[in-house]
Amino acid sequence: MESPRTLIGAGRAAAVAKEAESVARSAFHPVRVLLVVGTGFSRRPWRGRIVDALRPVRLRVAVQPAMPTPASVARLAGEARAHRADVVVAVGGGSVMDGAKAAAALAYEPADPTPESVAVACEEGAPAEGVPVVAVPTTPGTGAEATSFATVWDVDRGRKLSLRGDSVLPAVAILDPDLLLGLPGPQLTCGLLDTFAQALEGAWSTRADARAEALGAAAWARLSWLLDRPYRSLEAPAASEREAVLLAGHYAGRAIAVAGTTVCHALSYPLTLRYGLNHGQACGVTLGRVLRYNAAVEDGDCADARGAGRVRAAIAGVVAAAGADDAFTLARRIEAFLASADLPPVPDLRPDAARIAAEALGYDRAGNNPRRLSIKSLTHLLTTTAP
Ligand SMILES: [Fe+2]
Repeated sequence: MESPRTLIGAGRAAAVAKEAESVARSAFHPVRVLLVVGTGFSRRPWRGRIVDALRPVRLRVAVQPAMPTPASVARLAGEARAHRADVVVAVGGGSVMDGAKAAAALAYEPADPTPESVAVACEEGAPAEGVPVVAVPTTPGTGAEATSFATVWDVDRGRKLSLRGDSVLPAVAILDPDLLLGLPGPQLTCGLLDTFAQALEGAWSTRADARAEALGAAAWARLSWLLDRPYRSLEAPAASEREAVLLAGHYAGRAIAVAGTTVCHALSYPLTLRYGLNHGQACGVTLGRVLRYNAAVEDGDCADARGAGRVRAAIAGVVAAAGADDAFTLARRIEAFLASADLPPVPDLRPDAARIAAEALGYDRAGNNPRRLSIKSLTHLLTTTAP
């Protein structure tokens, strides 16, 4: 799978109109753009810069509130069709980018998408062609700007769906660290937790290749400093820190674009659907425990055909990049980071552990985990506290 054309650096978001023009399939000018933003867009200090940068295009603005659902994706796709959008520009976090990506992929369908047709597309795969997307992340860690899948939440049925296909991959990703300015501390923390998880999962996945392992380690190499400093110092990250976390999130996103996620993400979906936990927090809650579990893999319980040695080497590569002595030390530091973060308390998972385990194993990405899992082993993992 290819990666999007990627622009990196402070101020690069100023090129968003030029990039939109470069990927539009129509030769008409001005290019017609549907800009998809989140509900926090109007409060971010750089909002005016994005609006100014898009002055050369014919613009329509749509809001993706909170998590994308079949209904919100159908509505956004309808907006793209009504505007006859040549390009969809997504400026926001993972939910905004996923909603925009899914809507753009479905906007060429013969009939107006409906919530039902969006759910069916999530089962059957995205159409081959959609409206090109320029993705501009404003939170670190989701990696949505680099993946060919979009998460869609069917909240009514308590199920996480995924729209997958080449047409879901953005054509361009613009990583501008200045767009992290004004991001509330808890959102930054959740983005970092998602990055931690995606970088490890992308490296140890049974589908990981050398490139995914290297990308996972590269992400952690850029974040190792975070584990050595108190959480409060992240409230106003310096320019170099903003670039590091944005790049780390992008590398982790590219790792899972190759290798998929594994059981931390599979567990996160019931945690989000049951308790409303933010995605990054929901992934981070189990990451330390899963790291210990996977680091203890043996050939007898290894799910990777290449053997337990390959899995241990992949984990060792990330551990070294993170500057930790071993996987257990890294797990402890991740848990200390999580414990010091200013996030809502996590409910006691023990009463529901068996049900959460069963639901998690129903997601296909649980099958990417390099050490075999069962309801019993996963329930045990969820009921165990850190040593
Ligand atoms: Fe994630």
